[in-house]
Amino acid sequence: MNDGHGRTIDYLRISVIDRCNLRCVYCMPEDGVDAVDHTEILSYEEIIHLVRVFAGLGFRKIKLTGGEPLVRKNVAHLVKEIKRIDGIEQVTITTNGILLADTMKALAEAGIDGINLSLDTLNTEVFQKIARRDSFDKVMEGFKAALKYREIPLKVNCVPMGIEGQNVLEMAELARKYPVHVRYIEMMPIGLGKQFEFCSEESILEGLKERYGEGIPYEESLGNGPGHYYSFPGFQGKIGFISAISHKFCESCNRVRLTSQGYLKSCLQYDIGTDLKKLLRENASEADLREAIEETILRKPIGHQFGSQIGSHAEEHMMAQIGG
Ligand code: 5AD
Ligand code: SF4
Repeated sequence: MNDGHGRTIDYLRISVIDRCNLRCVYCMPEDGVDAVDHTEILSYEEIIHLVRVFAGLGFRKIKLTGGEPLVRKNVAHLVKEIKRIDGIEQVTITTNGILLADTMKALAEAGIDGINLSLDTLNTEVFQKIARRDSFDKVMEGFKAALKYREIPLKVNCVPMGIEGQNVLEMAELARKYPVHVRYIEMMPIGLGKQFEFCSEESILEGLKERYGEGIPYEESLGNGPGHYYSFPGFQGKIGFISAISHKFCESCNRVRLTSQGYLKSCLQYDIGTDLKKLLRENASEADLREAIEETILRKPIGHQFGSQIGSHAEEHMMAQIGG
């Protein structure tokens, strides 16, 4: 369906849990997020019910996120059930990889259409500093497990944060050595992300050019999102950039977000949306749910205004509660 600004909205990001087995410094406080009672979290049945309604409105692509989605039990089952819904063409997942070695087979069997692996550095000690957990080897195991499934596209997402030793240029090695795309995600001033330095796309490109030669802009789109990509000589994968602030892409936004507690959010920066869980649990009819979703999408803001005060409706949640 179209929003009030003429954009086609057909992509839903669903956070299945807001807990995580890492504590990345730009995303989560050391103590984690306040535990909410599991009855406050949408059940798989409720998620599936909602996705049916979304599919009826023209939604085609689903991304499962968290927190860390694989912390929730049997996510592969959810993937499988969503894949069976008429109209849904693609189900992908964003994960930090810690549990991926254990679940990749089940995800593949469930029909997962793509894996996005969040990994910010290839340096074990720096990983530990960023994620506050010593799990680098586990993540690399997950990476290797996912690589075995050549037919399932794998992307690595790195958030440059301007800290010593992160060595974001080295991340590109993964795209040189393996058939994976490496994407640099610009830090967004949401939650704890506000405290970090901004690292420009241009400076990374310049660094990559020195190392690998000139990157050639790759015109085709890869995936559902706002990334733009470059080909580097001899690389198996592409290098991408998702720069929400410096290269604002709101005019082509195609998505809304459903939090693990069932709140439908129409824009990352605002808390504007609808409590679908409440409707669901009041036994709203299919038509009521549909109307509530339509109305939320019609009121979707034209874009974010990071960097200026937006006054009312500013999002106060952390990224781990929204799902990125
Ligand atoms: N800005 C950009 N990306 C972020 N992520 C978490 N917080 C931020 C932020 N402030 C990313 C994680 C992960 C994804 C779910 O969101 O690194 O890749
Ligand atoms: Fe967890 Fe992802 Fe947040 Fe890191 S960025 S704490 S992996 S949700």
